[in-house]
Amino acid sequence: MGGGGVGKSALTIRFVHQLFVEKYDPTIEDSYRRNLNVDGVMVSLEVLDTAGTEQASSYLFRASRPVFMSLSSMYMRSGDGFLLVFSLTNSDSLLELHAIHEQIQRIKETARPPHEKARVPIVLVGNKLDLVSERQVNREAAVAVSQSWGGVPYYETSARREINVTEIFADVVRQMVKS
Ligand code: GTP
Ligand code: MG
Repeated sequence: MGGGGVGKSALTIRFVHQLFVEKYDPTIEDSYRRNLNVDGVMVSLEVLDTAGTEQASSYLFRASRPVFMSLSSMYMRSGDGFLLVFSLTNSDSLLELHAIHEQIQRIKETARPPHEKARVPIVLVGNKLDLVSERQVNREAAVAVSQSWGGVPYYETSARREINVTEIFADVVRQMVKS
């Protein structure tokens, strides 16, 4: 999850199809599958690529009463692990992640019994590492954010140059297996 245009789809498509998508086509919702070998264990991953900006609100009908729920809160409920992505070329996109992180914590806390205090598998991802001259966010600022979230792993990636793409998915899977 993360703001519009930060590269969520580019990272996903690089991971699933090993190619780079140059064109920006805002996502509504796409889902992908890929098997990944993590530390000798084959896992089947279902990757949900979400919309960066909350345009659409979905609704569920329960007991003939409509229950309005944002799409993002449904993803948070159903997700087992989360990649929170910002663009290293856009400092606002890092700030945007605070609200998403907070909402994930809130939703996952209410979802589990009070005595279980497992942590939610999360990886912080600073993407577009290749755009060196456009960089706005330094490593220290991003590490500070990852520390403020209880020390979640932080990676700098490039979907274009294929840097750390598999690593971010493998890291979140390792956390999911442990939790
Ligand atoms: P939404 O679906 O609107 O939320 O956006 P998104 O986060 O999925 O962004 P998307 O992957 O569509 O990428 C937006 C633009 O940034 C596209 O033109 C991509 O080609 C470009 N882009 C994504 N990742 C990288 C990267 O690592 N390096 C460079 N140079 N461009 C990237
Ligand atoms: Mg997208």
